[in-house]
Amino acid sequence: MNLSFKKLKSIDLPCSNDTLVFSLSGKIQCQNYWTYTEMNVIEALHNRVSAPRLGDPGPDKEVLENICKSAFSAADHGLLKPWRFLIVKDQARCRLGDLFAQATLETTAEVSQEKLESIKKKPLRAPLIIITIAKHISHPKIPEIEQSLSAAAATQNMLLAAFAQGIGAMWRTGAMAYSSTVSAGLGLEKHEKIVGFLYLGASQGPQKPPRELSVDDFFQEW
Ligand SMILES: Cc1cc2nc3c(=O)[nH]c(=O)nc-3n(C[C@H](O)[C@H](O)[C@H](O)COP(=O)(O)O)c2cc1C
Repeated sequence: MNLSFKKLKSIDLPCSNDTLVFSLSGKIQCQNYWTYTEMNVIEALHNRVSAPRLGDPGPDKEVLENICKSAFSAADHGLLKPWRFLIVKDQARCRLGDLFAQATLETTAEVSQEKLESIKKKPLRAPLIIITIAKHISHPKIPEIEQSLSAAAATQNMLLAAFAQGIGAMWRTGAMAYSSTVSAGLGLEKHEKIVGFLYLGASQGPQKPPRELSVDDFFQEW
């Protein structure tokens, strides 16, 4: 693995006795604090994994801007830009949790208080969430499915941009992504659908190894 680093972003170490660990994925890990080098795009593509456990800090302004801009290079038939995104952070995560709880109460006959509390806390699993919304546009040649696929590609781009910058990320959906109450509460219009909740933050715990799949098992000459 190529461990050369093109550019090291200057960082403030959270505490003086933190040690820097160079990991195989090309990241520098500082205990629970991740920073990044400019990772080769192929390296990022081959090594990206989700980070299910996330904590503070969330991406800073510059890193977040890079993540957001990465969405715009998604494949997009007809350049319709059939997507928009909501950023949910700080107290807004609690409002999203309340919306999740409301949606659950409206559709589930019996929910224990314990379950409801755990649903409310779901958005607190990361310091920042980007909600990808597919914005379907009526078009004679470009069906809705293609527009949803473009929104999914945008989300994948953001996953990769996060990983390449040492930010943990996880794409989640679940019942809340398909709830009309959640959609309405977020201000979605009729032609809009939630594609995913992209949870972003500092990866906690060990990073899982990338999937090791064989090209020959999935690609055959025809
Ligand atoms: C559209 C979509 C929705 C997903 N929703 C969830 C989810 O709600 N919960 C979950 O644990 N994983 C969900 N995943 C899967 C994870 O994001 C992740 O890709 C998977 O755990 C495999 O891990 P990896 O990304 O590290 O390979 C979803 C993936 C996609 C593409």
